[in-house]
Order: sequence, then C-alpha cells, then structure tokens
Amino acid sequence: MTQPKPKVYAAMSADLLHPGHLNIIRIGAELGELTVGLLTDEAIASYKRLPHLTFEQRRAVVEQVKGVERVVPQATLDYTENLRALRPDFVVHGDDWKSGPQVRTRQRVIEVLTEWGGELVEPTYTEGISSTMINAQVKEIGTTPNVRRRLLRRLLEAKDVVRVIEAHNGLTARIAETVGVDSDTGRREFDAMWLSSLTDSTAKARPDTEYVDLTSRMATLQDILDATTKPVIYDGDTGGLIEHFVLRVRTLERLGVSAVVIEDKKGLKRNSLYGTDVPQTQDEPAAFAQKIEAGKRAQVTKDFMIIARVESLILGKGIEDAVDRARRYVDAGADGLLIHFKDADPSPLFECLERVKALGMGVPLVSVPSTYSQVSEQELHARGMRVVIYANQLLRSAYPAMTRTAESILTHGRAHEAEPSLLSIKDILRLIPGT
Ligand code: SPV
Ligand code: MG
Repeated sequence: MTQPKPKVYAAMSADLLHPGHLNIIRIGAELGELTVGLLTDEAIASYKRLPHLTFEQRRAVVEQVKGVERVVPQATLDYTENLRALRPDFVVHGDDWKSGPQVRTRQRVIEVLTEWGGELVEPTYTEGISSTMINAQVKEIGTTPNVRRRLLRRLLEAKDVVRVIEAHNGLTARIAETVGVDSDTGRREFDAMWLSSLTDSTAKARPDTEYVDLTSRMATLQDILDATTKPVIYDGDTGGLIEHFVLRVRTLERLGVSAVVIEDKKGLKRNSLYGTDVPQTQDEPAAFAQKIEAGKRAQVTKDFMIIARVESLILGKGIEDAVDRARRYVDAGADGLLIHFKDADPSPLFECLERVKALGMGVPLVSVPSTYSQVSEQELHARGMRVVIYANQLLRSAYPAMTRTAESILTHGRAHEAEPSLLSIKDILRLIPGT
C-alpha cells in the first residue's frame, strides 16, 4: 500500500506571479500534496495595497501552475483557521518573514503547527525579485480607466475604512499616490484621492462657488489622472442642472473616476464650512432625488458611484431632516451618503449616523473630518463610517510653508535662510521622472 502524500500548505497573494512564487510552489510540491492558501483582497489590504488582480483572476492563474493541487481562500493574514482545517505536515514560506510586519503571523504559524507536529519550511527568499518591485514598475506603466474606476468598489469590499486625501494638481496627486509609512501592521498609504472643489478653486485663487468651470476642473483631473493609478472621488458640488449632471456623469465615468459626490444645495453654492454664516439654499429633497436618479440612469458601467451629500446639519435643519433626506436619496439610487458636518464636537453627527444606520440601507457612509479632526479613523469606523476624506490638508499645509519662505526671502534679502526647509535643487530635478 502506498503511503498518502504529506499535506503541504503555502499562503500567497500571487498578484504578480514571479519566480519567487514558483520556487515556493516547486518546493511545496516536492514535499507532498500542495494546497495554496490564496489571500483574499481583504487579507491583502489589511497589510498592504489592494492587489492589481481580483481574487478570481489570481485563483485562475495559480490553479494552472504545475505543482498546485488545489487553491483555497485564506481570508485573513493569520493562517490559524486554514491550518486547523487542513492540518498540513508542512507549511512553506520564504524566510523573508523572519523580520518585518509578518513576524507575528510567522510566530502564530509555528505555534499552531505544534498542535499536530507540523513543520515550517523556509526556503531562502528569492533575491532580486519581489512583488513590491514589480508593483513599482507596474505603477510606472500606469493604469486604464476601466481598471481604475472599479478600484473604489473593490476597496470598499476589502477594507474597513477607505482612506482618501485631497489632490488639487499633479504634484499633490503624486503625494497621495506615493507617500506611505511603515507600521507594525504593515504599510499604511492613502487608498484614493478626493478632487476637492475647495482646494481646486483655491489653488487657482478662485472662490469655491462653482465658479471654476468644468473645463478647468477637467484639466486638473487630467493632470491628476496622468500622474497616478489610485482611484479618484470627484467633488461634483451641486451637480448643476440635471441636464448637465447626466453629461458630467458620463464624462467622469469615461475618464475612470470612481465616484462623484453631489451636495443637496442649489443657487450660488458657498463652501459648506461657512454653514449659516452666508446665505445658502438647500435643494428640495424630491428635486435632488430626481438628480440622483437621472445620474444613475446615465451611467454606463456598474462600477461608477454617485454619493449623495446631505447638508442639513450644515444648514441647521436638524437631524430629522438629514435622516429623511438620506432615506430619500438612497431610495433614488445613491450608492453612498456623506452627511456633512462643520462643528468641532461631532456628537450631533454621530447621533444622526445612528439614525441613518437604523434605516438599514447598507450604503457606505462617508466622513469629511475637517472640523472634527480630533476623531481618529478607528473611531469614525466604529461609528459606521466606511470612507474618510482628508479634504483640504495638503493645500492648508502648503500655503503657510510658502508664505514663510516668501517672508524669509523678503526679510533677509536672499533665499539662503529659507534653504533648510526647501526641497534641494538635486531633489526637485529628480522628483518627476524625465525632467
Ligand atoms: C471640498 O473639499 O471642496 C468639500 C468639502 O466640498 S468642504 O470644503 O467641507 O465643503
Ligand atoms: Mg467642495
């Protein structure tokens, strides 16, 4: 009688399959019958960026690789559940995880394997090739509208909180695209960009009253799209006339924008952070619902999202009005809700959120914590928020820095004193490839 083959388990993302993966698979298959635990989008997004390929696309590739007996989903970074279900004799993983963010995951694998005497096999990490490297090269190539547009929905499926920062030109978009910090739980980056009307207008020294016309806003959008691969949420102000809004939806969708946010105001739009200090008129709920309906009918893909922004709390209309409007807008087809709020104490907003959540409409809730910036992403998520937009912070940090430099040059009659806070000449020449 032949002995059953030992059971072998290897977990991977396998987004951009390279010789490092094939090495693990080959070694696994030599040890016995190899099951690949394919990390779900959710598991991957918990410690790094969303993969380029969807789970099903990645599964289709890995299933065809020689030596792979079967592919099962691994829904968390932690192996425990899959290991206890399979009880493998061997787990194979490159030795790179002995340091860095996966140390704890590795420790846990070792502990769980002792329950039945399984063994961890750690082949030397394949140097010179990694998905991080390939990812950087893929980013250089760029993306396409179809791929980019879908990303926001994929992020919402994969992550608790989608973290968004404003961009108002190509350079700020590069910051949103590239800046990251390493933490205990992996790399932290912004997931998407917000094309704010406030910062786009302010950067052009124009008022945030829908005065910057569509052509100009599209020029900003093109600069941002050219410089990045991350998804874009477009601040659509009031959406304008219904007849114009439907055309705008098509334009944004065609360019690969993932979502437009429109606010339920009409007439001369003023920035919401003014609240009732300036005259602002809220649209009739039925009229605004009609605009949402028309936009939803106009869109071509399933991916594009129309997010309704409720201004009732901004305009002092109260929680009841906000909740009623939220319900009507979602009934009209809104794919998400932004209950805007402009005070420092977010208690009324949180109360409103409880009421909206109780309606059980299931659409993602979006937060713009400009005035309640003391509230962490974690708490916002605990309150039900799924998207957090840092709507203006890059511009607000740039302006004081530039003013200080201008003052320093005037004070000293030369630029020397300002130098320590400036990007070096060498670095600015390197900042944009091709300069
Ligand atoms: C923007 O960023 O332009 C917004 C958010 O619409 S707020 O400025 O708070 O109105
Ligand atoms: Mg705006």
